[in-house]
Amino acid sequence: MHYNKLGNTEFKVSQIGLGTEYLFHQPKEIVVKVIQEAVKSGINYFDILFSVQSYLKKLSNAIKGYRNKIIIAGHIGTKEVEGRARKTRSVKEAKESFLKLLSTLNIDYVDILMIQFVTLKEYDVIIKADDLLDLALLFKDQGKTKYIGMSTHDITVAMKVINNKDFSALMVPLNIANHTLKDRDNLLNKCSAKNFGLIAIKPFAGGKLLQKNRTVNFAKYQTAGLTLKKKVPSDISSLKCLNYVTSLPGVNMTLMGVKNIVELQENLKYFQTSKAEMNYETIIPTFAT
Ligand SMILES: NC(=O)c1ccc[n+]([C@@H]2O[C@H](COP(=O)([O-])OP(=O)(O)OC[C@H]3O[C@@H](n4cnc5c(N)ncnc54)[C@H](OP(=O)(O)O)[C@@H]3O)[C@@H](O)[C@H]2O)c1
Repeated sequence: MHYNKLGNTEFKVSQIGLGTEYLFHQPKEIVVKVIQEAVKSGINYFDILFSVQSYLKKLSNAIKGYRNKIIIAGHIGTKEVEGRARKTRSVKEAKESFLKLLSTLNIDYVDILMIQFVTLKEYDVIIKADDLLDLALLFKDQGKTKYIGMSTHDITVAMKVINNKDFSALMVPLNIANHTLKDRDNLLNKCSAKNFGLIAIKPFAGGKLLQKNRTVNFAKYQTAGLTLKKKVPSDISSLKCLNYVTSLPGVNMTLMGVKNIVELQENLKYFQTSKAEMNYETIIPTFAT
């Protein structure tokens, strides 16, 4: 496993981290097995994005005994409604949901608290007094998080986040499907220059990039701003997708999602495979226009 400094934070994060969105509906046994196998392989960053009791209970079992070995990112911006995650911008609901996340996971703090799913319209509101950023700062003062970050599916919001001193990390979709996205290179270069903690999400565009030979619609939330219809090349693979994202300048960590142990093990081959075998040059032309 390779480790990178996450921007200006104190953390050395595994080059590949594990997202848990696609473990949401999986039984406890699979969630525990995936997380524990990931920890054994050297992954030390886990993204826990929903405050839904059933999902958090499974994760609580999975991380038991590992708290001091792993970096946990928690989120504010969703609440539980009938067992599912629903977006909320209410400060009161975000506060209750985050306290529930801590207590259900049986932990005292998260390492990074992300304000999640932020759109351009919402950004200016969230950073105003008494809104979600102030709530995150309060949690930081109380020792319930060490750092604050933001997750967004919009490159224009991402550009704002990296200029705001209160944020130490940014999560944004970066993948081969957004190879031509306007301002992407600008964002990457600025993150490098400022040493800003950049976490690439959706390396497989939520799985769409792995649908070989199929004509697929990519939505803006999977590409940080592009709507595309493309036939996915037959020679694409999860390892080529990971190699593409980890090779982007400025990216400190690539946060992948998996649904089960088979996908995790397949993707972990990244660390035993040569760069030549994961060469993605033949894939780029499909997404270059
Ligand atoms: N706002 C936020 O806070 C936010 C937003 C987005 C993402 N995230 C975080 O970022 C993480 C990563 O993003 P993501 O999970 O949406 O996207 P992703 O990593 O691009 O895609 C994950 C999906 O790709 C497929 N996949 C992965 N490895 C595979 C393999 N070897 N073979 C075949 N299929 C494979 C699986 O879906 P199928 O098998 O079903 O195809 C898997 O669930 C999330 O889990 C989440 O923690 C956070």
